[in-house]
Amino acid sequence: MKKKVLGVLLAATMAVGMLAGCGGGNATEAPADDAAPAEEAPADEAEAPADDAAGDVISIGFAQVGHESDWRTASTKSCQDVFSAENGYDLSFVDCDNDSAAQLEAVRNFIQQDVDYIIIDPIVSTGWDTVLTECEDAGIPVIVIDRTIDDSDKYAAWVGSNFKTEGLAAGEWLKAYAEKQGISEINALVISGTTGASAQIGRSEGFQEIADREGWNILDEQTGDFTEDGGQAVMESYCKSYAGKFNVVVCQNDNEAFGAMTAMDNAGVTYGLDGDVILISFDACTAGLEKVKARQFSADFECNPLAAPFVEEVIQTLQSGGTPDKEVYMEEHWFALPDAIVDFSIDGAAQTMTEVTDDVIAAQY
Ligand code: AHR
Repeated sequence: MKKKVLGVLLAATMAVGMLAGCGGGNATEAPADDAAPAEEAPADEAEAPADDAAGDVISIGFAQVGHESDWRTASTKSCQDVFSAENGYDLSFVDCDNDSAAQLEAVRNFIQQDVDYIIIDPIVSTGWDTVLTECEDAGIPVIVIDRTIDDSDKYAAWVGSNFKTEGLAAGEWLKAYAEKQGISEINALVISGTTGASAQIGRSEGFQEIADREGWNILDEQTGDFTEDGGQAVMESYCKSYAGKFNVVVCQNDNEAFGAMTAMDNAGVTYGLDGDVILISFDACTAGLEKVKARQFSADFECNPLAAPFVEEVIQTLQSGGTPDKEVYMEEHWFALPDAIVDFSIDGAAQTMTEVTDDVIAAQY
């Protein structure tokens, strides 16, 4: 492949550091054709190396977080579908099982394999500069997907979600919904995601910002590690420590919320649109939206896992010698049933909520 050429291009890309966050409201535009590889000839195709013109297979190493949630399964499938042999890719996939050391090792193995591109979904947001420097020295462009890297900018592009906006949305929705229900005092329990993951940091920060502004009481925040077992264990402990003292539970993903439901069922706590506790979730995968439809989740705030087509656009841009946008935000929606669809804004921008119907559930991942 054109490793040396790409190394020079990558350095130029990083130097330019182009910011192209295209998020408006709670949505960004999807590419015209999500799944298909770019077919249009780039303007400067004549300058592309001969091996590209010959249709060489592009090798990619993907260091995935793990398999902790429905969301993660959808993310993995999205990458495997897009970066398939049929589409001209050779994908080396490593499930890092939520182990940061294993993830660094996976990246270093990809460098040894001399892959053309490395995709990283960083388990935690720090500790990355050294290995990204090694990628840069090897001339291998890195694309960061989903979670962010906060202590290095040595990557070509990031494609993912604005997690703080998700947390702000949950907070602003709760304010409007509680007002509609005549609830004047909020006593919330938070089951957070993996500590140090940007998805956890952003959602916690966003929700806390609204809680501080509104004077809500956040009784506790403990990690459920984005898993159903973790959510259940934390909620079992909360049900004992805070029995009768809470009226809101915020789970930072659907799987944690499934576990929290089991714990609340066992403790005789009612939740959802007809219960005593407002149950908020993030991700809005198919199984999560089914809980919204069943009135068990009060609202679900989407984190869109289908980033791979956008990552492919980044790779195709690099292949043709272009400079990709440094940041690409995924389109996201906020879901509820009509009873819980309320008007709210984030930093002055009016938000649109999506009603959960059978068709909406069927179209979800
Ligand atoms: O980084 C995205 C988060 O990670 C999703 O909310 C969660 O389900 C996943 O494990």
